[in-house]
Amino acid sequence: MSFDLVLFGGTGDLAWRKLLPGLLQAHRHGTLPPGGRIIGVARDAMADEEYRALIGKRLADVEADKRPSEEEFARFAQLLHYQRMDLTQPADYALLRERLAERSAKVVVMYLATAPQLFTTACEQLGAAGLATPQTRVVLEKPLGHDLASNRAINAAVRRVFREEQIFRIDHYLGKPSVQNLLALRFGNALFEPWWRRETIASVEITIAEQLGVEQRGHFYDRTGALRDMVQNHALQLLCAIAMEPPINASADAIRDEKLKVLRSLTPWTPESLAQGVVRGQYGTGQVAGRQVAAYREEPGVAADSRTETFVALRTGISNWRWAGVPFYIRTGKRLASREGHIAIHLRPTPHAIYRTPLVCGANRLVIHLQPRDGLALHLFAAANEPRGGPPGAHSGEAPALTPVALDLDFDQRFGAERVGAYERLLLDAIDGRLNLFVRADEQEAAWQWVEPIMQSWAAQDARGEGPRPYAAGSWGPGAASALVARDGNTWVEEC
Ligand code: BG6
Repeated sequence: MSFDLVLFGGTGDLAWRKLLPGLLQAHRHGTLPPGGRIIGVARDAMADEEYRALIGKRLADVEADKRPSEEEFARFAQLLHYQRMDLTQPADYALLRERLAERSAKVVVMYLATAPQLFTTACEQLGAAGLATPQTRVVLEKPLGHDLASNRAINAAVRRVFREEQIFRIDHYLGKPSVQNLLALRFGNALFEPWWRRETIASVEITIAEQLGVEQRGHFYDRTGALRDMVQNHALQLLCAIAMEPPINASADAIRDEKLKVLRSLTPWTPESLAQGVVRGQYGTGQVAGRQVAAYREEPGVAADSRTETFVALRTGISNWRWAGVPFYIRTGKRLASREGHIAIHLRPTPHAIYRTPLVCGANRLVIHLQPRDGLALHLFAAANEPRGGPPGAHSGEAPALTPVALDLDFDQRFGAERVGAYERLLLDAIDGRLNLFVRADEQEAAWQWVEPIMQSWAAQDARGEGPRPYAAGSWGPGAASALVARDGNTWVEEC
């Protein structure tokens, strides 16, 4: 199947950090359909050869295991082409049309890795230039919009040009092998379902911690912040994977229907829950991985008096039969103590204790490790091998102490670390037309609808002169985040 993949934003950060390495991996794995072209699009004038050289130089900077050898890159580079184009100029779309008319590919994927402000114009102009044919698919990077209204406006504009099944809204977390595994764990095993509910589960924690700061994206990030960058999309998609009902089959719409129900059941915010259940923070200077780093406000592209959040922790719930009363905590931030993504399912303690377990985290928990390691650990308690029939007190009626142990499964070790990466999978899915791991418009709208009251409450705080809480780079965020879970008698998993 021949394809043309047009990468708008072809010289941008995302293209060389994620998209081109993903495509290179697919090429390496032999999964990229043969006879394809990858056409980078950006504003500068450049010949194909210059683009290949530029990408070759950039790919030399990626992590060692993803870096291509010279011959490997030379083979991959034959797929790379370049088209100069200013997306705001209607006349420039004719240049792309000519380029695509050089041959008739079976599938044309338009990947908009550009600022979201350009999505509407780009789709309208693709339509006007006759480039939205039944063979065309459009991939839209997140965040899609800035709030509910702008999200709706973009979705409406895109749908005037493309049918829903041609629209691939990307959330790269859905492409991660660890997230695929989460669904497999829940819906491919009978073991979990009976206790996957409020009667057994006390709370759920979702943490996506990064050590990175805003890197070269200060300008973008300062207008976006952690709520729009991570919570509205990645964290809520993880929450859906944990909380959704079993879908009737593995089709895109069956899965999306169930996720949508979760998003619509998120407990609505009240002034009290906003005040007590949401913490926003912004990093100051500090040590991350042994290196002194600058404060957020000193990063290039960031306003010196910025109130943009680089950290969010929140407590919510899901108002349905399965989850009523179970707190769901979400926490994400930049410049935190370690790079760590996990979902911790904390179980209720035994109904009657004849043993002593630790005071903190003294009940079972299942931790699904998303990154950097991909695996899962079931934390249990066992009787240590005590001589003479048990620990002191065992005979006097005092509860004997148990020792924490873990059943630990490492998927990288089990399946090999060379697994299909998120962008590699999602790019192949877009070329093949598989929508399962892409987000439907109604899911996105429900997620925006739920985060909007948080944005509004922060705007009101800003007006009162109350900004985000400072935290030291290299810490776990503002102390208020620990207080948030402590109010329910809980702790974040690193404190266990
Ligand atoms: C992106 C955000 O969607 O996800 C970035 O825009 C963030 O700010 C990144 O760094 C995190 O992705 P990952 O896969 O490294 O956890």
